[in-house]
Amino acid sequence: MIKDTDTDVPVLKPEEEARLHEQHGVPVHVAPTQKRGKNNDRVTDAILTCEDVNVFYGDFRAVTGVDLDFARNQITALIGPSGCGKSTLIRVLNRMNDLIDGARVEGKVTFRGVDMYAKNVDAIEVRRRIGMVFQKPNPFPKSIYDNIAYGPRVIGMKVANMDDLVEEALTGAALWTEVKDKLKQSAFGLSGGQQQRLCIARTIAVKPDVILMDEPCSALDPIATTRIEDLMAELRRNYTIVIVTHNMQQAARVADRTAFFTALADEGTGDRTGVLVEYGTTTQIFESPRDQRTEDYISGRFG
Ligand SMILES: Nc1ncnc2c1ncn2[C@@H]1O[C@H](COP(=O)(O)OP(=O)(O)O)[C@@H](O)[C@H]1O
Ligand SMILES: [Mg+2]
Repeated sequence: MIKDTDTDVPVLKPEEEARLHEQHGVPVHVAPTQKRGKNNDRVTDAILTCEDVNVFYGDFRAVTGVDLDFARNQITALIGPSGCGKSTLIRVLNRMNDLIDGARVEGKVTFRGVDMYAKNVDAIEVRRRIGMVFQKPNPFPKSIYDNIAYGPRVIGMKVANMDDLVEEALTGAALWTEVKDKLKQSAFGLSGGQQQRLCIARTIAVKPDVILMDEPCSALDPIATTRIEDLMAELRRNYTIVIVTHNMQQAARVADRTAFFTALADEGTGDRTGVLVEYGTTTQIFESPRDQRTEDYISGRFG
């Protein structure tokens, strides 16, 4: 058994380690213990970890020095004012920044104990296991059925029965009963909220471990938003979820843990860079923040 030597908490089960080793062909590292001041309550069962993460767009440093662990089967919310680097950071978590010209990530990011940015790690496989749902629902210009079947086909997933997989994914995204009689119709015929649940179904069809959501409700009406929030609570049983939201009430409603970011201005250049101010359980962050900046933000004194 691998132990976190500080607390004796097992951080990676031996069978998991063996599976990772087999899949990635690399020795598995156990993430170092988080002992940083900004993290108020340690995550003992982290599936994803960030250690001193810095992100640059060309010469511009968008995010500085982020240490953050994401707990397995929990919902973690990233909150903070516009431009503080929330989207930039969530893209770090599945190597989506690789696809942005000029973007560069420094620091260490691990997924199940494996350095996600190591040379021998396949970014496509990372994105299969850590899926992403965007702000604006972006279904493919295909039928509802094919939106779900596309991912498994493209990656050559072994599927015993595609109809079953489509039903399972749509059921998992709480959409099945609404679409089961029109699977061959275009996804564009669905409402915005249904399209977003379709995108969630598409993400879970390839059987990920983690779902990243960047402001998934900001283009939706309140009823569709509630449905997505309810769905997140369901998904949490099988997946780890990271959500960026500018809506603090949403973070308070859905998240187990909340990380508050802000943008600090460089006195010389005026450039603003995103930093993690405080991270803890959602209850702690909202009810007894330990940093004045967190308190100012959540009480609406600063936006
Ligand atoms: N693709 C990009 N190229 C250059 N700069 C970017 C890019 N994406 C974001 N930025 C900059 O990085 C900073 C953080 O942006 P972002 O991560 O989108 O913040 P948030 O999601 O918190 O609003 C901002 O200054 C933004 O202008
Ligand atoms: Mg954003």
